[in-house]
Amino acid sequence: MKALILVGGFGTRLRPLTLSVPKPLVDFANKPMILHQIEALKAVGVDEVVLAINYQPEVMMNFLRDFEKSLGIKITCSQETEPMGTAGPLALAREKLDDGSGESFFVLNSDVISEYPLQQMVDFHKSHGGEATIMVTKVDEPSKYGVVVMDESNGCVQRFVEKPQQFVGNKINAGIYLLSPRTLDRIELRPTSIEKEVFPKIAAEKSLFAMVLPGFWMDIGQPRDYNTGLRLYLDSLRKKAPEKLAKGSAFLGNVIVDETAKIGDGCLIGPDVSIGQGCVIEPGVRLSRCTIMRGVRVKKHACISGSIIGWHCTIGQWARIENMTVLGEDVRVSDEIFSNGGVVLPHKEIKTSILKPEIVM
Ligand code: GDD
Ligand code: MG
Repeated sequence: MKALILVGGFGTRLRPLTLSVPKPLVDFANKPMILHQIEALKAVGVDEVVLAINYQPEVMMNFLRDFEKSLGIKITCSQETEPMGTAGPLALAREKLDDGSGESFFVLNSDVISEYPLQQMVDFHKSHGGEATIMVTKVDEPSKYGVVVMDESNGCVQRFVEKPQQFVGNKINAGIYLLSPRTLDRIELRPTSIEKEVFPKIAAEKSLFAMVLPGFWMDIGQPRDYNTGLRLYLDSLRKKAPEKLAKGSAFLGNVIVDETAKIGDGCLIGPDVSIGQGCVIEPGVRLSRCTIMRGVRVKKHACISGSIIGWHCTIGQWARIENMTVLGEDVRVSDEIFSNGGVVLPHKEIKTSILKPEIVM
């Protein structure tokens, strides 16, 4: 089987992290977002993943080359010279996706996280025999997504409305599709939206089916949702693979710690924290609801909550970092600094406190 991941876009909502790497390479739960997807695809027998990309393809490929080998999966790029939207890239990669076997292929948005029940999706797709399957999930605020109205008895989609102005329903497109090669015949080689121009047409022909996604789901393309996504991911890990969570009196609730990270004495860590490769957490540190990416040093008695600390940052002792502070790569925060929602660009040195949420350039 084949899969295409929609990688394009500049990831502006996840700056400053996306100033260092393309969005799919931003770590989530100690692993670049896209690896969560590639691993799930591999697990259901996908042997080739096409990355539809219009931005820094060489950065992506350099990074993924090692994983091609270790995962035993072919990864190729299909590069756009102008952004082709969410459908155009399928036309561009048509030769790769349709090898004439008639086999359906996966298409994934690159910024969503879930338990990826892809085998169930394949089974559902075969059982309804329609042209395309999409995963849907319930959310409280449907207006920022693609909303799906479906026949609950068989999953047949009656309406697909992208970013509706008025309330249509609360089941939304989760950005995980299984399409048959027939769908490619509908898509022209030009910038187009699969949500606005393709799905409504398949739905009108009663050939678009939706499966309600079991388990959690989150679009982690912006900091607040990214943090919520981490909480949901760790909750799910607690149920499915509790052995991956950190154990011991220093940990509260769900926490993952890379095995190469060092945790000092007297720390209290959790709930909902991920600590990446090579991090050094000095004694007496308090961490809750935060992501600490690879190579970060948190000095003695610092306290971080509800924030994202980018790769290789240093947090000074007694510093207090909170309220959705996002530090780009290699930010150095001096001792005793307070950050209330600061968004700090890579390689900066923070010597004065950030008292209200603002961008520090
Ligand atoms: N290659 C390529 N080229 N990829 C693109 C382009 C492009 O021009 N534009 C967007 N993408 C990729 C994004 O990187 C992302 O992985 C995916 O297509 C969806 O784009 P977003 O910009 O993240 O869309 P959204 O979050 O507003 O809405 C989409 O996702 C929701 C779920 O998170 C839609 O699919 C909604 O229907 C859906 O509910
Ligand atoms: Mg998105």
